[in-house]
Amino acid sequence: MAALQHLTGLCGMSAGTLSELLDKTEGFKKELTAPAPSFSPSLQGRRIALVFFENSTRTRFSFELAARNLGASTLGFSASTSSVTKGETLSDTIKNLEAMQVDAFVLRHSASGSAEFISAITQKPVINAGDGSNEHPTQALLDMFTLREHFGKLQGIKVAIIGDVLHSRVARSNIHGLLTMGAEVGLCSPVTLLPPDSEKLGVSLFTDLDRALGWADAALVLRLQLERATGGYLPSLQEYSVHYGLTDERLERTARHLLVLHPGPINREIEISNRVADRIQPPGYSKSMLLEQVTNGVAVRMAVLQTLLADTP
Ligand code: NCD
Repeated sequence: MAALQHLTGLCGMSAGTLSELLDKTEGFKKELTAPAPSFSPSLQGRRIALVFFENSTRTRFSFELAARNLGASTLGFSASTSSVTKGETLSDTIKNLEAMQVDAFVLRHSASGSAEFISAITQKPVINAGDGSNEHPTQALLDMFTLREHFGKLQGIKVAIIGDVLHSRVARSNIHGLLTMGAEVGLCSPVTLLPPDSEKLGVSLFTDLDRALGWADAALVLRLQLERATGGYLPSLQEYSVHYGLTDERLERTARHLLVLHPGPINREIEISNRVADRIQPPGYSKSMLLEQVTNGVAVRMAVLQTLLADTP
């Protein structure tokens, strides 16, 4: 793999690099789910700063676990208790942490482009854990890994990305990654929640959810980003849920064998019904991969940290 210095996004990443990260993830998943997991501490002594300016449960915990599994230590940072509340800038914050000999930064920030910006001012690897509505590369890698594990390949599979595409960094990273790996991508959302440049992305566009589900092998359901969508996008949540909510009845009617993914956190009974979100079986029916994705998230983050840090001084 050409040396990967930072992971700010999947846009422009080659199929070879993506495949190598997914292959590495497979190895870590095996170790992680073994009856008595034991990891080689390849990042012993490394210090990883988890710099989170936005809330997180899955991403933050899984980066922390991934780092610890590899023997690294983590420094937690949350903007609300830091000097950011006194007006310190993002770049000063990063430079100060770097001066304390931190070895890598995992950054989540509400500003699109913030990870790219930080990667230009530090010598240390920067991993984007979600920047505004731009990219969330490790989430897309874990979604792609989950799909690859289930279907045995990404080439040629059809993935419908459903919901608030406009505000979703998860959607953007998945579109880049899945298309690069030869999957077909369909976007299904109300026109107000579709990015203006969508027809140029090389994806199929749907406004009718039944048609999208009939087309797809897998549905990646997005959370309605209520904190970013400040009014005017939807007549009402109830109407959204009627037209774009993934319900048992809808799957039964249109897509009984669909694989269902969601990055979490879920708005239960808005974009996904309880029964669909919680369904593991019965066989032959749509299958929810939500918790499998979370497990895979730890393995993906181990692969990313290892790749970026193991060979750097
Ligand atoms: C996503 C995020 O924060 O972008 N969540 C996550 O990382 N698991 C998706 C979301 O918040 O909707």
